[in-house]
Amino acid sequence: MADGYSDLMLSDIQIAPSILAADFAHLGDAVAQLAGEIEMVHVDVMDGHFVPNISLGPPVIASLRKATDLYIDCHLMITDPLRYLESFKASGADGVTAHIEAVPNPIPVIDECGILDLDVGLVVNPSTPVDAIMPYLDRLSMVLVMSVQPGFGGQSFIEDALPKVESLRAAIDARGLRTNLQIDGGITLVNAASARDAGANILVAGSSIFGTADPAAAVRDLKASIGA
Ligand code: DX5
Ligand code: ZN
Repeated sequence: MADGYSDLMLSDIQIAPSILAADFAHLGDAVAQLAGEIEMVHVDVMDGHFVPNISLGPPVIASLRKATDLYIDCHLMITDPLRYLESFKASGADGVTAHIEAVPNPIPVIDECGILDLDVGLVVNPSTPVDAIMPYLDRLSMVLVMSVQPGFGGQSFIEDALPKVESLRAAIDARGLRTNLQIDGGITLVNAASARDAGANILVAGSSIFGTADPAAAVRDLKASIGA
């Protein structure tokens, strides 16, 4: 869409489960058990090149698409996102986020997502200043601050992510934008409220949901901790 927001119309604050921590043999069930609790599923795509790990790609997303009507948000930890945007769109993804470290000039990715009618966002790694994505805010439906090193679930939350979220929130509000502000990695009951207080409106959580005996209860507890 021309304004960069497309159809990403979500509630103010929410938990987005990362299926990286789910049982890949039962992904449909893993998501279905949360259906009443969430609006968005976070899908971590890793290519073994941009990050050392390999996870999943468009064929798995296409299967997931058949299993759920929830918004499918694909976090692309891949070296060449532009090359695969059409595949992600065809697989049924609603939106993608690309790392600014992978595409220092993200304009072609943003333009192509506009052509494909795919929501687009940009991600910053823990060591990347938010200044790298500030110039593009008004063309994005989402920005994502990594609060762990990308590539693996189950890491500890990096507190230095919080001032970055605060800076982005200040810029988004100062410009009167509706850009979603996501934080990803190490989110638990202990830090979810600080992430919200810093200004994030979408909190991604993997292990603290799918690593528990009752993922739906874990989502409810996380939501309660941020007043969602
Ligand atoms: C890390 C991924 C995260 C991860 C979150 O590369 O981008 O989405 O799955 O998992 P937890 O919540 O376990 O840190
Ligand atoms: Zn992620």
